[in-house]
Amino acid sequence: MNPVFDTIHAHRSIRRYAPDPVPRETIEAIVAASQRASTSSNLQTYAAVAVTAQATRERLAHLCGDQAHIAQAPVFIAWCADLSKLDRACQLRALPHSHDYLESFLVAAVDAALAMQNAALAAESLGLGMCYIGGIRNRPAEVIELLKLPRLMMPISGMTLGVPDADPPARPRLPSGAILHWEAYDRAHEDAHLRAYDAAMAATGAYDKRQIPVPGKPDELEDYGWLEHAARRVTQPLRKTLSAVVNAQGFDLK
Ligand SMILES: Cc1cc2nc3c(=O)[nH]c(=O)nc-3n(C[C@H](O)[C@H](O)[C@H](O)COP(=O)(O)O)c2cc1C
Repeated sequence: MNPVFDTIHAHRSIRRYAPDPVPRETIEAIVAASQRASTSSNLQTYAAVAVTAQATRERLAHLCGDQAHIAQAPVFIAWCADLSKLDRACQLRALPHSHDYLESFLVAAVDAALAMQNAALAAESLGLGMCYIGGIRNRPAEVIELLKLPRLMMPISGMTLGVPDADPPARPRLPSGAILHWEAYDRAHEDAHLRAYDAAMAATGAYDKRQIPVPGKPDELEDYGWLEHAARRVTQPLRKTLSAVVNAQGFDLK
């Protein structure tokens, strides 16, 4: 349709990078583009910590679940919810700060997400590759210490950035009918959408054509697909101490 749509549709996460450094001005331009995202009440409750030092990226790679591409990519950006600046604003104006409601945390997390996706598209429009790193929430207390994040700051997602050294295919997405509903949410075709996507993802070979028993029919086998992947992913609770770390950072959520 136009170059913006082209960039959006060409997205795929990059997990292998060339050694070329990303110039500091490029990182600054990408983060400046992130700042143009809309932001709740113009509060701008997020921050980006850009890490280029090899030793720090190696430590982050380990803390984020031993993800090698974090050490390999020349740049890692920790996108954080940041209520610390507003806390300071309240101090400067001698006003109390009601930061201890889920709403405040959600505002900051959404602000961070909008900004980081602007950054992702800006980077991709320059021919760079990126990959989000939710693993930053695996051992958040140690990441907070490593990056010296003050009270009322919480890492939301990391992002690797660099010149791609891989050209993976774009991953299919759910049929648009599973996402776009007209006038009200409509579950009529939910199973059909899920099964269509399951087949589409299995066809990409992403799951190595693994076979698994059909639920309730242990003698029958079917391809391991997205349905099994997604269901298995949410079967186990993940990052169970996260709320404790969020509260230890001063959010004290109610
Ligand atoms: C918030 C968030 C966290 C993610 N965390 C990781 C991660 O820790 N490691 C990783 O390799 N990919 C991570 N990803 C990338 C997703 O796996 C990827 O976006 C998804 O599989 C779709 O693939 P695509 O981006 O290539 O289209 C993350 C994506 C998001 C949005």
